[in-house]
Amino acid sequence: MHSVYYNDKQINKLATDGQHRAIIGGMWEEMGELQLDILQKHGLKPEHKLLDIGCGSLRLGTKAVPYLNPGNYWATDLVEALMDAGYQKEIIPLGLQERLPRSNLVQDAEFTFEGVPRRFDYIIAQSVFTHLPLNHLRHCLARLANHLEGSAIFLFTVFEAEPGTAPDGPSKQSRGPITTYPHKDPFHLCEDDLTHIGRGLPWTIDFIREWDHPRNQKLVMAKLRS
Ligand SMILES: C[S@@+](CC[C@H](N)C(=O)[O-])C[C@H]1O[C@@H](n2cnc3c(N)ncnc32)[C@H](O)[C@@H]1O
Repeated sequence: MHSVYYNDKQINKLATDGQHRAIIGGMWEEMGELQLDILQKHGLKPEHKLLDIGCGSLRLGTKAVPYLNPGNYWATDLVEALMDAGYQKEIIPLGLQERLPRSNLVQDAEFTFEGVPRRFDYIIAQSVFTHLPLNHLRHCLARLANHLEGSAIFLFTVFEAEPGTAPDGPSKQSRGPITTYPHKDPFHLCEDDLTHIGRGLPWTIDFIREWDHPRNQKLVMAKLRS
């Protein structure tokens, strides 16, 4: 089990017990706005189509759906119950269901992207690969490249090992309360790992790093080469 999100019983209980905001990290308004803001800074416009991988309970969805043209927000997650909670307890009370059909939210544990369109302008995965071993990132990039048609910009976050971290040691992140690990959740990586996972894949990967994330997650931008 890579993280709490793989514990079906526990995560389903938390999602249905009203903990759907807390279990995806809290900071509901702040992290929703931060994600929309960084997408807009990189050029997201209402007419663009956005895919939110590992969308959780739609923290970004509540901000992106009113901004995007109706139907242009799509999302996937490992946990159906989190998407259900987000739809029932956040999207519907905000009156956004006309702009976001429930069928745009797709359960997907292995980055198959089945049932998801093939053309997106922007893709985001915020605080998803921080909970997964490195190979999942490579797997996602490979499958996404196979699935997509046309060009796309993919923004995702990682924890970076702080300078001086031993290869087998923990890393106390310099901002926020989190300690990260090379082998367990929350995972960190280093710049060389990013170079390695991109090798042989049709993505150009840039480690952007800073985007004012309260927990010190670093931003990475991958562009699909056509
Ligand atoms: C910390 S939450 C972040 C949710 C959302 N991205 C946000 O920022 O509000 C991590 C999310 O990643 C999802 N996740 C974890 N492993 C996944 C996988 N293999 N495929 C898809 N989603 C996954 C979890 O279910 C959870 O909803």
